[in-house]
Amino acid sequence: MPCYSMMNLSASRHPTISYRPIQPADLEVLVKIHGDLFPIRYEIEFFHNVVHGRDIVSWGAVDRNRPNGESDELIGFVTARIVMAKESEIEDMLRFDKSRSDQTLVYILTLGVVESYRNFGIATSLIREVIKYASNMPNCRAVYLHVISYNNSAIHLYQKMSFLCIRRLHAFYFINGQHYDAYLFIYYVNGGRSPCSPLELVTLLVTYMRRGLKLVSARVWKKGEKNGPKRVKYRDKSCLLPMTQGKRSITIEGADSDHV
Ligand SMILES: CC(C)(COP(=O)(O)OP(=O)(O)OC[C@H]1O[C@@H](n2cnc3c(N)ncnc32)[C@H](O)[C@@H]1OP(=O)(O)O)[C@@H](O)C(=O)NCCC(=O)NCCS
Repeated sequence: MPCYSMMNLSASRHPTISYRPIQPADLEVLVKIHGDLFPIRYEIEFFHNVVHGRDIVSWGAVDRNRPNGESDELIGFVTARIVMAKESEIEDMLRFDKSRSDQTLVYILTLGVVESYRNFGIATSLIREVIKYASNMPNCRAVYLHVISYNNSAIHLYQKMSFLCIRRLHAFYFINGQHYDAYLFIYYVNGGRSPCSPLELVTLLVTYMRRGLKLVSARVWKKGEKNGPKRVKYRDKSCLLPMTQGKRSITIEGADSDHV
């Protein structure tokens, strides 16, 4: 890939964007764009895994209307990995079917569009590709990702695409000696929704109220009984969402899998 084309990443007058898999010939540009867009330096192994499709799925965007030699050069990308739901940090956020231990998730690793091609809907299309891919896997229950808390354009994009923000993770990132919070966004597919859906919350509330009534009537019934239990405690916390989360330290060197 000639050097000048990597420096000259300006949008053509009438971009004709098309999407294709990322391939080995994209390696140099992929490394360059990641270096330009992210505060994290990814290991070269990560890029090799991307371009060779080793444990990573990816889509690239190119502008077919750029001059010769650049018309197949990446101007955007998304990379993702399939993870087992039961081994993921969001297992508790899924409607988990114990008989289906093979449930999977798609975790978006990196997403980026070079500056001169922003706000053309390219990232939206790339994420749609990921969602389509996840939806076509019958065992897949969600697409999820982390985003650093100050990345307003990315947060706006995920919200616009109906991702749900399910957690704020305190000091999740450690970049250049400083801590940053992260948001965890999720997009459910194939019915893999949270175990605390509105309907289930209502059902839970009704169950609590019924149990409360039973307790009251039990107390009235036992009133006056000398040896009866003084107090009945009810501690069902099955629907409380855990607030703790393993933090990840990311230094400027050596990160390979965290989305910012
Ligand atoms: C985030 C990013 C991928 C978006 O790419 P894009 O191709 O411009 O995205 P789209 O054109 O599909 O959509 C952009 C949306 O964000 C909005 N947006 C852009 N900048 C914004 C900002 N600073 N604040 C709020 N919204 C913003 C646009 O208006 C548009 O929304 P709209 O369709 O409602 O108008 C791109 O900005 C980027 O590569 N950033 C650097 C790398 C990065 O942060 N990656 C994400 C890591 S989580």
